[in-house]
Amino acid sequence: MLLNILWLVLLASGCLSLEDWLIKDINIQTTVTKTEYGTYLMSNGLISREFSLYPDFATIDFQDHHSTQSSILRAIKPEAVIMIDGIQYNIGGFLTNTPTAYLNRTALGSDMRVDPKAFHFHGTTILEPQAPYPYKPRRGAPQNIHWPPIGMRMDVEFKPPFDAPYYHQLVTVTVHYEMYDGIPLLVKWLSVSASGEAVGKVAVTILSVEYLAVNQPWAPSSMGWLLVESNEPHGTVVSWTLDPHTNDMPGSFQPNVNCSYQVYNDLDLKPSVDSFRVHELVVGSSDPERHSLSHHRMFRLLAPQTQENPIFFHMTNSSSVAVKKLIDQLSEVGFEMMIYSFGSGLNLESTNSSYIDMIANDTAYALSKGIEVGGYDLISLSRQVQADWMAIDVHGHSIGSACFASGWHDNIKTKLFSFLKRTGMSMLETDGPYGGYQCASTNHSHHDDITDSIYEQNRLQGEFYRDLRSLEVYINQPDTYFYQGGNKDGMGYNENQYSLPRWQDLSISRQGMYDDLYRLIPSAGWMFVPLVQYHAGGGPAEFEPLSKHLLEYEWAFAQYLGAGVAACYRGFELYDSYESKAIVMKWVSFYKKYRDIVTSDVVHVRRADMQSYDSFMHVNPHLKNKGLAMVFNPTFKTVVTNLKLPLYYTGLNSTALIREQEGPARKYTLDREYKVSVPLNMGPLTITWFLVQ
Ligand SMILES: *[C@@H]1O[C@H](CO)[C@@H](O)[C@H](O)[C@H]1NC(C)=O
Ligand SMILES: *[C@@H]1O[C@H](CO)[C@@H](O)[C@H](O)[C@H]1NC(C)=O
Ligand SMILES: *[C@@H]1O[C@H](CO)[C@@H](O)[C@H](O)[C@H]1NC(C)=O
Ligand SMILES: *[C@@H]1O[C@H](CO)[C@@H](O)[C@H](O)[C@H]1NC(C)=O
Ligand SMILES: *[C@@H]1O[C@H](CO)[C@@H](O)[C@H](O)[C@H]1NC(C)=O
Ligand SMILES: *[C@@H]1O[C@H](CO)[C@@H](O)[C@H](O)[C@H]1NC(C)=O
Ligand SMILES: *[C@@H]1O[C@H](CO)[C@@H](O)[C@H](O)[C@H]1NC(C)=O
Repeated sequence: MLLNILWLVLLASGCLSLEDWLIKDINIQTTVTKTEYGTYLMSNGLISREFSLYPDFATIDFQDHHSTQSSILRAIKPEAVIMIDGIQYNIGGFLTNTPTAYLNRTALGSDMRVDPKAFHFHGTTILEPQAPYPYKPRRGAPQNIHWPPIGMRMDVEFKPPFDAPYYHQLVTVTVHYEMYDGIPLLVKWLSVSASGEAVGKVAVTILSVEYLAVNQPWAPSSMGWLLVESNEPHGTVVSWTLDPHTNDMPGSFQPNVNCSYQVYNDLDLKPSVDSFRVHELVVGSSDPERHSLSHHRMFRLLAPQTQENPIFFHMTNSSSVAVKKLIDQLSEVGFEMMIYSFGSGLNLESTNSSYIDMIANDTAYALSKGIEVGGYDLISLSRQVQADWMAIDVHGHSIGSACFASGWHDNIKTKLFSFLKRTGMSMLETDGPYGGYQCASTNHSHHDDITDSIYEQNRLQGEFYRDLRSLEVYINQPDTYFYQGGNKDGMGYNENQYSLPRWQDLSISRQGMYDDLYRLIPSAGWMFVPLVQYHAGGGPAEFEPLSKHLLEYEWAFAQYLGAGVAACYRGFELYDSYESKAIVMKWVSFYKKYRDIVTSDVVHVRRADMQSYDSFMHVNPHLKNKGLAMVFNPTFKTVVTNLKLPLYYTGLNSTALIREQEGPARKYTLDREYKVSVPLNMGPLTITWFLVQ
């Protein structure tokens, strides 16, 4: 009965109409309060999660107050599930016979029994969110980043049931919840620790970090209203399944989400292990643009370094003479970073002092001209190292990649960190970081056997990136270690498109980038411009000689810098003539002038089909320039039409001032769908842009 009253109170507060968090700042502080009904309520105005303490700790509600004003939660489940030495334990939760098709809190109120086999609630600690690695904004990232994000953290401690075996009595499970101001996001993870005699004597398998029974629309039939992801690129799964109790009250589709490790893991408590983190973003809509923009907000919040946005060059020649010449070019036009590319001959693992001194000299020269320096190295995936450091299968055969939880980890980490320190380099491009495979070796220094090999390799790869991040090193990685400190991943990426003839490459790449801008923010992806041959394709694929391919060169700069996406311009020079230099300068100045809006999120206007114009638009309601639409005409015809710009996410709601390039401003009135029609008249093979204020 009491619980029922609380429910009504929450419903009522959910009816307060909130502004859209994607276009307005929501200034409501995150709080954890003990309600008068004895439950804990974690809330930030946009969402709330409510926990009972009686008869044990369990989530008894999870509300969306923002988009749908409805409850996500459908039934009671344990907070987590683990196994210690083969015995399975629920963490919290309680037993009830209340049907699972919907949450009937009246019925629940009179039917809650302690689960005698579960870890039981012991206590909570309220604290502030903790940063998983240090971070200070630089390299073009917004200066107003809060790190760690502002919000609240609640740590909930659980103790084993009294009849658990002796060693298990010495195990504590802590479930961590974090919620942040102004975003409908909850982050959750577990720590399991042993004390006293149990240290090193017990092994835990984490079966579920989150097991949540949700109402049907929240599950992803196409784009579910609840976006659930893990913070790790490998070894974890977010799976949606049907509730085993579906038929107790037949008729309704009853989905559960289970966030778990992909394979059985058997982790020694020496003395503790942490699970991956689950991100639960309450989107409350299946609109692709809203999904993507919501995800981007979370991404910027939890991986702030991905907002750094330097413009860099991939250098193919590591000789001092060539490097200094290139640095002079980069510095003259305002490039910001030089990366020794694959094939440049740079050896980042060298321990030869005179070689390191030479690279240090060239790096010092670059830094004196305002250019940061970094280099490429192949880490573990596909990397051949000495035989006893290779990852092996259960038959003892090498799988063709180094094991990142073997002595190889110590070897390469020491060499790379020392090289960076001694040369003054501040950027690392790690190709083939740990790629997610198991290793069956039983004599590697950082894992016991096959069962913990994915967990330990992941852990060490994450630690590797976090340590680089604490040195403020910029990190390119062809993988998604963003929540471990990585900056950039490939975008619109297919190894072979950069071997196509230039116009085909530019067109396919613009399509791929457009598609990938749903997944990534502009500054978290890289594209590629093969000034010299990449894999194949020869002359028709190369942009060299630059003075002979000015039009394509300009398109490359316009489409990548116009998208806020740094491309790997890969070659040995940035310009070869007055004209090619003018193109670079034009677009680098454009990027620097509009950097804030150009590195903001993208809404999709018209995907390139090469039949007419194509366009994407940056939006940011917090800037003076609230929108910037790039428009391309890749055809041989003049295109005369109206460009329909969707302005909702610019935050403008009645009129907009729009200017084409730096031309005069015209005032437009938004229609009921927050769109405007702007006249477009574009000659063949031209590019233009519109600024929206
Ligand atoms: C909720 O449970 C109460 C008590 O068991 C019952 O009387 C009521 O009919 C239930 N309501 C619904 C909608 O199932
Ligand atoms: C959750 O997933 C894990 C790993 O696949 C599995 O072992 C476990 O049984 C699942 N939990 C439930 C309740 O289905
Ligand atoms: C690298 O640059 C140097 C100096 O300009 C030049 O002598 C050398 O031939 C170049 N190497 C390659 C592989 O192009
Ligand atoms: C060390 O590096 C220098 C400069 O690159 C080179 O001349 C020398 O041969 C290297 N020494 C060894 C032992 O490789
Ligand atoms: C480094 O630069 C200094 C001064 O520019 C020069 O004297 C020295 O020989 C250089 N060292 C190497 C290894 O190139
Ligand atoms: C490590 O184990 C492999 C087989 O898994 C064996 O071939 C190798 O000799 C062992 N190395 C050491 C140093 O014990
Ligand atoms: C329109 O935007 C203005 C300026 O941001 C704001 O004050 C106003 O409340 C908005 N109106 C509506 C209906 O959202």
